Amino acid sequence: MCERKDEIKIGILTLSDRASKGIYEDKATPEIEKVLNSYIINEKLYYKELIADEYDLIVERLIYLADEKGCDLILTSGGTGPAPRDVTPEATEAVCDKILPGFGELMRLESLKFVPTAILSRQIAGIRKRSLIINLPGNPKAIKECLEPIFAAIPYCIDLIGGTYIKANDEIIKVFRPKKSC
Ligand code: MTE
Repeated sequence: MCERKDEIKIGILTLSDRASKGIYEDKATPEIEKVLNSYIINEKLYYKELIADEYDLIVERLIYLADEKGCDLILTSGGTGPAPRDVTPEATEAVCDKILPGFGELMRLESLKFVPTAILSRQIAGIRKRSLIINLPGNPKAIKECLEPIFAAIPYCIDLIGGTYIKANDEIIKVFRPKKSC
């Protein structure tokens, strides 16, 4: 018998000095939620945080979302570029046990179809314990541009690290599992 947990825990960590001070509205968090709601059928429990581009704080919140909340998937948004305050990839690398370079490679490749500045994003992905952490750029329109090409591999990745079995809405997005997981 295979027991599958149905509720998926998702952390959304949005990094923006200005949005965290209320200088402008955070449009990235609702966009991530909207895209994931359309892709994933499971019950979803979201943990959403909006913080400044501070390395120590990002490290702390990623550890909290992975270790304390047990998120299957953690998506960050923002802070992946070349500016001095952009430190999300460094903080992500610091908390991960394993880096999965393919996610960043594919997101940059696909993003180049939309903007030539896609190569400025240093976005990465990796595993911390049973959490898959993926960096997305801060531009709300980049969220779907990046999630769409990589999503096919996300459910199987989460199966492999012992996370919740993701049921995708295959009318909207196709996922790929090379082996039938239990
Ligand atoms: N990728 C996609 N798909 N769409 C975008 O608009 N913007 C680029 C790049 N990647 C973009 C994108 C730009 S202009 C920058 S500077 C980098 O992401 C880093 O953005 P960030 O610092 O907000 O993470």
